[in-house]
Amino acid sequence: MIPFSPPKIYQEIIDEVVDTLKSGWLTTGPKTKLFERNLADYCSAPRVLCLNSSTIGMELTLRWFGVGPGDEVLLPAYTYCSTANVVVHCGAKPIMVDINDDFSINIKDLKCKLSNKTKAIIPVDIAGLPCDYDSLIELINLPEVKSLYRPITAEQKMLGRVLLMDDAAHSLGAIYNGKRIGTIADVSVFSFHAVKNLTTGEGGAIVLNLPEPFNNDDIYASLNTKSLHGQNKDALAKTQKGNWRYDVVEAGFKANMTDMAASLGLVELKYYDSETITRRKEIFRQYSEAFNKESWAKVPLYKDANRESSYHLYLFRINDITEDQRDAIIAEIFEQEVSVNVHYQPLPMLTQYKNMGYKMSDYPISFKNYSCEISLPVYYNLTDDQVLKVIQAVKKAYQKVVGNV
Ligand SMILES: Cc1ncc(COP(=O)(O)O)c(C=O)c1O
Repeated sequence: MIPFSPPKIYQEIIDEVVDTLKSGWLTTGPKTKLFERNLADYCSAPRVLCLNSSTIGMELTLRWFGVGPGDEVLLPAYTYCSTANVVVHCGAKPIMVDINDDFSINIKDLKCKLSNKTKAIIPVDIAGLPCDYDSLIELINLPEVKSLYRPITAEQKMLGRVLLMDDAAHSLGAIYNGKRIGTIADVSVFSFHAVKNLTTGEGGAIVLNLPEPFNNDDIYASLNTKSLHGQNKDALAKTQKGNWRYDVVEAGFKANMTDMAASLGLVELKYYDSETITRRKEIFRQYSEAFNKESWAKVPLYKDANRESSYHLYLFRINDITEDQRDAIIAEIFEQEVSVNVHYQPLPMLTQYKNMGYKMSDYPISFKNYSCEISLPVYYNLTDDQVLKVIQAVKKAYQKVVGNV
C-alpha cells in the first residue's frame, strides 16, 4: 500500500533527539528557543513562539487580542475544524465565508459578512497556497470597514482595525509577493503536526508580525506566559541560582513545545527548502503534467503571479462528478493499494457546526469543491515510480466508476 503521508525520519533527526535525551533537558529549553530563532530567520519575521500545536497558537492569539463573547470572527467554511473551534473556545461566534475555486476565502462574501462585532479574520492558506492578502489588507483598512470596528481592549484599540490572523497550518515556506508567509498577516500560525511538511510530531508556532506601535517582543512574552499556566518564569529560568520563586499572573494554558519536539524541527528546517519543498514541488509537477492531459481532471493551482504554494496538499478534482461517485472512486483507488484522502469536509457538514445552525447550502463553492476532491499522496520519500502508480490508480478508478475514457 502506498501510504498517504508518512513522516520523513532519518539518522540526523534521530541523533538530534538522542542528543536531547542525553542532555538532561527534555522540556522547553535551549533547543526550543533556537528553533524559534531559526524559524524567525527563515521567515524574516520579528518573533516566533513555539507551542505544542497550531490550534493553541490560534487560540492564545485570539485570547491575547481579547476576542470573547459577543464578538465575531470570519473564517472560511472550507477548512479543518480547528480554525473554527478556537473561536468557539473563546466564546465568540465563527462567521463562515464561502471560498473561491482555488479554495481561498472569497473576499466578496467576506466583505458582506463584516459587522460591528467583527474582531478578527482568519484566512486559511489551504494546501499551502496563500490567500489574496493584498485584497484582505486593503479591505481591513478601508475607512468604511474601520468605522464599523468597535474596539474594547487596549490591544484592539492599539491596532485600530480587525486583526488578520493567518491559519498558516499548511503554508510554511509559501511565498506571497516575494515574501515568505509569516510576514504578510499580523500573526501567522504554523502547524508541525505529524502529517505536515515539517513535523515535530505535534507542534505549532505563532509568528508575530504586528505593526507599530506594538512591540512584538512584549507580545511574545505575554503569549509565552499564557502558554505556561500564566507563570512569569519558565522551567529553565527557575533552575538558575536564586531564581526559584515565581508568580502566576493569570490562569493560563499548558501549551509549550518540548526540546524533544524542537529537536526534530531544528534538523528538518535545515533541509526544508533544499530537499522537502523541492521534492514536493516535483511530485506536484508530475501529477499535473499527467492529469493536464485528461479532460475530466482538474489540477490544483499552486503558483501564479504573486503566490507560490508550500506544496503541502495536492487537491485533485474531477469535473462533473457527484459526491457519491467521488467516494466510489476513492474506494477503487484504495483497492489498488494507494491511500488517498479528502481535505476537507466543509464545517457546515460536521455535527458540531450543523447543530450551531450552519447550513451547507449557504456555501455552494465549498460544497462543490469538496464533493469532487481527492487529495493525492505527497511526501519526500514518494518515488517517481510510486507517483506513476498513483496516477494509474486514479485513472483506472475513474474509468471504472464513470467509464467514459
Ligand atoms: C487548516 C488547519 N488549521 C489548523 C490545524 C491544526 O493544527 P494542529 O494539529 O497543529 O493544532 C490543521 C491541522 O491539520 C489544519 O489543517
